[in-house]
Amino acid sequence: MGVEEIKQVMETFSDMCDQAKACISGKPYVSSPYDFTKAAESVAATETKAQTAQEGHAAMDVDGCSSEELKAMVATCSKCRLAQGRHHAVYGEGVVKPLVMVIGEGPGADEDATGRPFVGKAGQYLDKWLAPIGLFRDKNVYIANIVKCRPPENRTPEADEIASCLPYVKRQIVLVEPKLILLSGATAAHALLGRLEGVGRLREQTFQYGSIPMVVTYHPAGVLRNPELRRPVWEDMKRIARMLSLPIPGRG
Ligand code: URA
Repeated sequence: MGVEEIKQVMETFSDMCDQAKACISGKPYVSSPYDFTKAAESVAATETKAQTAQEGHAAMDVDGCSSEELKAMVATCSKCRLAQGRHHAVYGEGVVKPLVMVIGEGPGADEDATGRPFVGKAGQYLDKWLAPIGLFRDKNVYIANIVKCRPPENRTPEADEIASCLPYVKRQIVLVEPKLILLSGATAAHALLGRLEGVGRLREQTFQYGSIPMVVTYHPAGVLRNPELRRPVWEDMKRIARMLSLPIPGRG
């Protein structure tokens, strides 16, 4: 709002107060002689300062920041509409310098309630994929998501929401230093690969994030809905195990 608009609001409001006062006291209505220009200028200046601070925060360079700083930025982020509905921003957690960094789509209801990634049904299922090849959250895995706030009704995040969050997850990868990145589901794959093929196609290839290999697989929620995908997921887990020289169960 500009100074003139603020001044007008103040004058109207003051006028209404004067009229109400006159009505209650029974005295004649006299409009306030107060000059609202200075007050309006002061309100406008405060508003500009707040806006500048917010823009500064949004544009804050994540490049040199520590994980604590990045986590704090994510916790207070308001760059997109998802911030409005969240209970917790879900930063990510696990072991630093892990064998595998799993990147999913975004928090669901359980994650939003707890502030922790992949703690609901899909997350428990994900743990079951990783355990047979010796991967565990408390030992050698880090888990994060593309968007850090829950989309309403668990809808797929919109392109602008992903774009707002992408600098966070990219910095997170640099800070976490995984040996391999597992992109779980189409949203994670499309966001980090910049390619739009289906997961069925993308999972056949190996990509690079700088020097870090990236592998694509299905999202556990999708596999829970479609058990036919269980076999390809197991193939993907075995491929990861081979890439990391981990023992594969059932192999002599
Ligand atoms: N689905 C995701 O993609 N991430 C979570 O953290 C939970 C469910």
